[in-house]
Amino acid sequence: MRIILFTGKGGVGKTTIAAATGIKTSELGYKTLIISTDPAHSLSDSFQKELKPYPTEVTENLYAMEVNVEYELERHWNTIKEYLTIFFKSQGIDDVVAEELAIFPGFDELASLLHLLSYYDAKAYDVIILDCAPTGETLRLLSVPEVAKWYMNRFFGVEKKLLKIVKPIAEPLINVPLPSEEVLNKIQELYVKMSRLKEILESEETSVRIVMNPEKMVIRESERAFTYLNLFGYRVDCVVVNKIFPREAGKYFSKWFELQEKYLREIEERFPVPIFRIPFKSTEVVGDILFELANELYDGEDPTKVFHSEKPMKIEKEGDSFVLAVKAPFVSKEQIKLFKKGEELIIIAGQWKRIVFLPQSLALKEPTEAKFNNGEIRIYFR
Ligand SMILES: Nc1ncnc2c1ncn2[C@@H]1O[C@H](COP(=O)(O)OP(=O)(O)O)[C@@H](O)[C@H]1O
Ligand SMILES: [Mg+2]
Repeated sequence: MRIILFTGKGGVGKTTIAAATGIKTSELGYKTLIISTDPAHSLSDSFQKELKPYPTEVTENLYAMEVNVEYELERHWNTIKEYLTIFFKSQGIDDVVAEELAIFPGFDELASLLHLLSYYDAKAYDVIILDCAPTGETLRLLSVPEVAKWYMNRFFGVEKKLLKIVKPIAEPLINVPLPSEEVLNKIQELYVKMSRLKEILESEETSVRIVMNPEKMVIRESERAFTYLNLFGYRVDCVVVNKIFPREAGKYFSKWFELQEKYLREIEERFPVPIFRIPFKSTEVVGDILFELANELYDGEDPTKVFHSEKPMKIEKEGDSFVLAVKAPFVSKEQIKLFKKGEELIIIAGQWKRIVFLPQSLALKEPTEAKFNNGEIRIYFR
């Protein structure tokens, strides 16, 4: 099975590209499901067809659905939420605040991702395409399994059996309501699902594709996404640059051509994966135009292809230092120059240039040393 996840800033064209990709894969004979987790629900608009919170046939081999987040929250989270609310209240926290605290960040999107797991297990599709919420939320969401682990250890780091014995004795003494067996079972079930989900999303079957436009703010946000996706172990196999003004657009857009060309060069320096380009269409991309765009995607290649399989960067701990390892073909150690500017690290070796957006853990440190071997630059931070 192939799982393709689209992410990017709001309005860049994630839903459009996800829909067009699905059209293409279904035409190639892959049974395809598109799941939209974006609360904006524009997949229906793209296909000009009303979609349901379960797979609805769009054309031959192509199915699409729009997740209903409230319903999903209710289904997976209610038991746990009730307990957490009681727990927070017992700690003297106001009712309303307790309710809010009981939903941990990113859970609403996670609930929709759990859908992916059930369709993955059912093995009814060859390709599952996810149209995700804008980058910030998706990133938060993707770290949820780690957050859950934290929760598990802090709150529920007690063996279930032990808890059963301890509960009647301890509860009146410590004045903290301990979770019931039902709550623990639910948490355990959820935790197992989340771990599996993360495993699937990190595996070679899954590719993440960042959709962007050649615009300053969009590039900035995409860089951050690219770094964190890498850090969390997800595989970005290409980026799609959408809404590029075609030359035919005329004189009025001449300044735009220049600007976009500058930004396209920046994108090449900052995203060391294949870059696919899509022109700005003369009208909204829905219905027939969407089908037309499907044929222009990925330079005509099969969208299920893994366009890039190497990890473009890794962050490791070595002794006291953090090491950032970046692939850099054809350079030697003598050539390497490093510049750090706030959250950005600029690596220059002759004609070759790479700009890396640093995660918080590195941005606060200074690069101390660089080594080059086996086509990889290793930069030490302290
Ligand atoms: N290549 C393109 N040319 C012209 N309009 C586009 C293009 N791609 C997307 N659009 C339009 O831009 C708007 C936002 O696209 P959408 O796919 O909904 O973005 P997102 O899902 O990232 O928020 C829609 O009206 C869509 O029709
Ligand atoms: Mg969308």
